[in-house]
Amino acid sequence: MEIIIKASLAEAQREAAEIIARQLRRKAASVLGLATGSTPIGVYAILTEMHKEGLDFSKVKTFNLDEYVGLSDDHPQSYRQFMQQHLFSRVNVAPGHIHFPDGRAEDIPAHCLEYEAAIRSAGGIDLQLLGIGSDGHIGFNEPSSSLASRTRIKTLTPRTVKDNARFFGTADKVPHHVITMGVGTIMDARACLLLATGESKAEAVVGMAEGPITANLPASVLQMHPDCKLVVDEAAATRLRRADYYRWVYENKPDWQRR
Ligand code: F6R
Repeated sequence: MEIIIKASLAEAQREAAEIIARQLRRKAASVLGLATGSTPIGVYAILTEMHKEGLDFSKVKTFNLDEYVGLSDDHPQSYRQFMQQHLFSRVNVAPGHIHFPDGRAEDIPAHCLEYEAAIRSAGGIDLQLLGIGSDGHIGFNEPSSSLASRTRIKTLTPRTVKDNARFFGTADKVPHHVITMGVGTIMDARACLLLATGESKAEAVVGMAEGPITANLPASVLQMHPDCKLVVDEAAATRLRRADYYRWVYENKPDWQRR
C-alpha cells in the first residue's frame, strides 16, 4: 500500500483528484468505482474544474459502491442524487454509462448478481475510489463482513447510522439496510484509492494501514491489494506509527513512479 500524507484537507483532495485524472488521461474509457459521503465531495469539485479545462468523461463508465435500500432514485438522500449533484450533472459522463445498485429492486439477491455481472461485462473496475467509515468499513461492509464478500444487502451498524444522520437530519430517518459492493468485489478492482481526512478517521486509518488484516476492520484487507493508494491529511495521519517513513518514501519517489 502506498501511503501519501498531505499537509491539508485541500491538498489531500487534490492528490486524489489528480490520481483519478491521470487514470482518465491514460485510458479514456476507464471504468471507475465511485464513493459517496462527505470525503469525496471536494474531489468531485476538483474533477469538475478539471473537466472545464478539458478532462473528458465521455467514455468513462461508473459503478457506485452502494445505495440505501428503499430509497427511490429521486430521493434527495439517495446516493444517485448525491452523485448527480456533485459530479454527474457537472461533467460529460454519458447517462447510460452510470451504474448504481437499485435500492428498490424487488429481488435484491438477483439484482446483486446482475450488478456483479454488469461490472464484469464492463471489463472490471480500473480504479475504485473509497472512503472509510470511523469503524473501518469500506463501501458499507461493516465490521465482521466476509473479506471475500460480493455485492449484497447489509445492515448498517448503529455507529454508521449515527455518523450518517447528518445527511438525513435525524438518525431515525437513516435506512438501516443498504446494497453494497462486497469486500471481494472491491478487491477485484485493478487499483484502489482510499481517501481519509479528519481526526475522526485517525483510528480507522492506523488500523487499516498498520493493524492486522481482520474482518473486524474490513479496510485492512487493502493491505493485500497489489495497487492501493491511501491518501490522508495530517489530521487522519496522527496515529500512524511509520508516518515519517511514508513521507520519506513519497518525497523520494522517482519521477517515473509519479505518473
Ligand atoms: C459511501 C461509502 C462509505 C463512505 C464512508 C465514509 O459510498 O462507501 O464507505 O465512504 O462511510 O463516509 P464519509 O466520507 O461521509 O465520512
